[in-house]
Amino acid sequence: MSQTPTTSRSDLHVRPGPEGRITRLVIMGPQGVGKGTQAARLAETFGIVAISTGDIFRANISGDTELGRTAKSFIDNGELVPDEVTNAMVRDRLAQPDVTDGFLLDGYPRNAAQVAELDGILTDLGWELDGVIELTAQREELLTRLEKRAQEEGRTDDTPEAIKKRLDIYDTETAPLTAAYAERGLLVKVDGVGEISEVTDRIVSSLGAQLG
Ligand SMILES: Nc1ncnc2c1ncn2[C@@H]1O[C@H](COP(=O)(O)OP(=O)(O)OP(=O)(O)O)[C@@H](O)[C@H]1O
Ligand SMILES: [Mg+2]
Repeated sequence: MSQTPTTSRSDLHVRPGPEGRITRLVIMGPQGVGKGTQAARLAETFGIVAISTGDIFRANISGDTELGRTAKSFIDNGELVPDEVTNAMVRDRLAQPDVTDGFLLDGYPRNAAQVAELDGILTDLGWELDGVIELTAQREELLTRLEKRAQEEGRTDDTPEAIKKRLDIYDTETAPLTAAYAERGLLVKVDGVGEISEVTDRIVSSLGAQLG
C-alpha cells in the first residue's frame, strides 16, 4: 500500500522490533487482568492507537446510539454482544485513518468466529498481525481487582453474576484462542501481576525478545 521511499511498511511488518516496528497487536487476557491499563501504555510506547471494543460499546451506551441500545442488555448480563454486531463495529473502526500507523486491539477477538473475521478484515486491508499478547493472573487476583473496580467505577456489568459469566466465557471461548496464535508464532505470554510499569516493561521486552 505504502509508496513512501523510506522504511516500507512490509519491512516493518516482516521484522518487528521493540521500538516502533511492532504495529499491529492484540491483547488478550481475563477480565480484570489489566488489558485496558496496559493497552493505553503500550499504545503510547509504540505510537499506535488502542482500540477497546468494551470502551466503544460503553461510549455508544452513554450516547444512546442504536448500537448502544442493541449492546446494552448483553453487556449488563455479562454475555458477548452478537458477532455480527461486534464484527461490523470492528471492521468499521479498523478502516478509520488513525489506524494506519498501527493498533492494539483490546477485547477482540473473543471467540473463534471473531478470530476468523479479524483475519478477513486484515486481509482486506492488506495487513497481518505482528503479535498477540496474553496477560495472565490467577482467578483469585482477578476477583480481588474486579471487586475493587466495581466499588470505584460502578460499571453496570461488574455485578457478581455478570463477572462470573464473563470469566466463564473467557475460560471456555477466549482462552483457547491463544493456541491458534501460538501456532502462528504470534503469541507472547506475560505475567500480569506486579506494578503497572513493571508489567508494561515485561510486555515490551517480551515482544522484542520473542517477535523481534
Ligand atoms: N469482542 C467482543 N465480542 C462480543 N462482545 C464484546 C466484545 N468486546 C466487548 N464485548 C461486550 O462488552 C462487554 C465489556 O467488555 P470489556 O472488554 O470492557 O470488559 P471485560 O470483559 O470485563 O474486560 P475488562 O476487565 O478488560 O474490562 C463484554 O462483557 C461484552 O458484553
Ligand atoms: Mg477493559
